Amino acid sequence: MRKTVKDFRNAKGQRLVYLTAYDYPTARLAEAAGVDAILVGDSLGMVVLGYPSTVPVILEEILHHTKAARRGAPNTFLVADLPYLSYATLDRALSSAERLLKEGGADAVKLEGGEEVAEIVAGLTRAGVPVLGHVGLTPQTASQLGGYKLQGKRPEEAERILKGALALEAAGAYGVVLEMVPTALAKEITERLSIHTVGIGAGPHTDAQVLVFHDVVGLYGEFKPRFVKRYLEGGRLIQEALTRYAEEVRQGVFPGEEHSF
Ligand code: KIV
Repeated sequence: MRKTVKDFRNAKGQRLVYLTAYDYPTARLAEAAGVDAILVGDSLGMVVLGYPSTVPVILEEILHHTKAARRGAPNTFLVADLPYLSYATLDRALSSAERLLKEGGADAVKLEGGEEVAEIVAGLTRAGVPVLGHVGLTPQTASQLGGYKLQGKRPEEAERILKGALALEAAGAYGVVLEMVPTALAKEITERLSIHTVGIGAGPHTDAQVLVFHDVVGLYGEFKPRFVKRYLEGGRLIQEALTRYAEEVRQGVFPGEEHSF
């Protein structure tokens, strides 16, 4: 049964599982694994489309992949990312969210930022759009944060992240992603908020966890951030399979009798 926003609002303290998925087969697998929510993250720009960051991702790309993920996981709560600048004004945010919810079949949208986006979040939630916030390391503006690195080590940074999370809650967000922040800060934010927190690189005390599918199954390069646990060396296994396929074709081993009519 597909969870509802209310289920997530009532799930404070439960250990929920989010996973990214960007296409039909992956979303099917995620649904079969019983995840609580699928995120069509703009990380798809890097892990699927080969961009150097999430900045180039456009709404049409998220929409295209949201539709595919929805077809693969009709019974799973689906969150679609609002790409960079697609929520720069409330009008843009509303029209971007409208497309992801109506055409894409998403249940909610996610956007990055704290106090500076609280007004936009309030406008979206007033209009009835469920919003998941995202503070800490916000990849769309990583350059302004000094790159892809831990956020909230310094007390003033930690204060800004905490205030951002509280502002998102006050604006009506149903949950908040905490990305790459110290465990103690994630714990404090989780305790201070009545909505659920979703951690990635934020330690064990957040209500939920999220990982990028390609990281979990080892499909995205050699680099493995410390917060990722690889449950499969999928890239290596697929590479070996493809090499064997190529060898067997060249050697005349494939197709065999059993594959022929
Ligand atoms: O784009 C994404 O996949 C994300 C998650 C890593 C939280 O924002």
